[in-house]
Amino acid sequence: MKGIILAGGLATRLRPLTLVTNKHLLPIYNKPMIYYPLEAMKKSGIKEVLLITSPHHAGDFTNLLGNGEEFNLKLYYAIQKNPTGGIADGLKLAREFAKNEKILVILGDNIFDFNLKKAIEKFDKRQKGAVVFGIDMDTKSKQYGVIEIGRTGKVSSIEEKPDNPKSRIAQTGIYMYDDRAFDFIDKLRPSGRGQLEITDLNNCYLKEGTLECETIDWWIDAGTSHDELLRANNLVAEKVKKRKL
Ligand code: DAU
Repeated sequence: MKGIILAGGLATRLRPLTLVTNKHLLPIYNKPMIYYPLEAMKKSGIKEVLLITSPHHAGDFTNLLGNGEEFNLKLYYAIQKNPTGGIADGLKLAREFAKNEKILVILGDNIFDFNLKKAIEKFDKRQKGAVVFGIDMDTKSKQYGVIEIGRTGKVSSIEEKPDNPKSRIAQTGIYMYDDRAFDFIDKLRPSGRGQLEITDLNNCYLKEGTLECETIDWWIDAGTSHDELLRANNLVAEKVKKRKL
């Protein structure tokens, strides 16, 4: 399986911190934010990762990360011309890199300690489909996609930042797809906010009945607000000191 990290966007919610730098280069305790998804890739056993970012900061990423040796990964780069085209718009750039293999996608501002190795092994055995990773939390903030699980234990709906969330399961920024993801993205239309949404891609799999949800128990999206960025710093500091991250 190949790995893809999305690190574009404009991070307007974190201004002025992100006026002249990319959100994923901001510090989370003792490391730049982007180190955490890269370390998660390494831990999961993935060997090749494509990092997708915006034209303005691509040079900063190559200066910092080079070819990925520090992480024992082969690191490649792609440039999303429109930094706010949407997560699925960025992901589109990975078609050639994925070369018909399944993909693990991690959003660059997501921090978690869950080892994805077993989930990857399980997904690798499936012929087709996708997996979303959810977490039980307060979903009323309108910052996250919300996953509803039906009586049979299968995903029954996913809504992007709904006003009235149907469940307490937030959609994290960790996803696995088969090689048809790119064909599904080709058919997506921009949402109300003008973006190709990852949630719309997930709904393509949901419609054909091949979407599964796994839950994790510790996760933070450090990019949603200054408060969440601060919380991420504090939580990570605590974990590092206890040698749990
Ligand atoms: O983190 C979990 C959430 O991530 C999910 O619950 C939502 O369903 C999903 O849509 C996404 O929401 P966010 O509002 O957090 O997305 P954000 O705009 O912060 O972008 C997430 C990452 O993707 C961020 O690290 C930057 C990158 N990105 C974003 C956009 C819009 C790109 O690389 N290109 C883009 O065009």
